[in-house]
Amino acid sequence: MKKSIVVAVADNQVIGKDNDLIWKLPKDLKHFKETTSGHHIIMGRKTFESMGKPLPNRTSVVITRQKDYTVPEGHHVVHSLEEAFSLCEQKDLEKVFVLGGAEIYKMALPLVDELIITEVKESFEGDAYFPKIDRQEWKEVSRTFHPKDDKNPHDMYFVYYQKIV
Ligand SMILES: NC(=O)c1ccc[n+]([C@@H]2O[C@H](COP(=O)([O-])OP(=O)(O)OC[C@H]3O[C@@H](n4cnc5c(N)ncnc54)[C@H](OP(=O)(O)O)[C@@H]3O)[C@@H](O)[C@H]2O)c1
Repeated sequence: MKKSIVVAVADNQVIGKDNDLIWKLPKDLKHFKETTSGHHIIMGRKTFESMGKPLPNRTSVVITRQKDYTVPEGHHVVHSLEEAFSLCEQKDLEKVFVLGGAEIYKMALPLVDELIITEVKESFEGDAYFPKIDRQEWKEVSRTFHPKDDKNPHDMYFVYYQKIV
């Protein structure tokens, strides 16, 4: 089972503020939707709650330490990242996506095979960060530039990295 992190990161590694996203980039949302639709998505309880409800067409796997936490039918609660991965392995999934937030990315980075990163070409004030990646461990396999336009206020790159084994 291929494990991928999907994240949008600012130039200063910021990914969020006050348990919310900072930027509005519909082009990135479309890319995110195309990437993750139909798949299982693993996330921390705070990221899950920041979305308000489970994302359509995806199965949410929510990580929490709370033993009595519940999610809508068809989605899952687990108590560690390892449990999230093993639940997906048991379902014989071809791939799974880790959606954050900061706490979960930090734990997942050493364990995943692929990084799907949207680089937002701006620095922002925030309180949640994605770790700097080690270029000895990650090989950039593709990078596409998406210049800002009327609806997308920041330049971005969609970048794919594969783990160097
Ligand atoms: N830019 C992006 O691509 C992106 C993507 C996702 C999220 N974000 C942003 O990231 C921020 C949220 O990140 P965050 O780090 O505050 O929260 P988070 O990683 O989404 O969730 C943290 C929660 O996960 C649970 N958890 C963490 N480690 C655990 C472990 N070892 N075992 C069991 N449960 C564990 C705990 O839940 P309990 O407290 O319930 O026990 C913890 O409070 C928000 O600002 C969000 O908008 C950005």
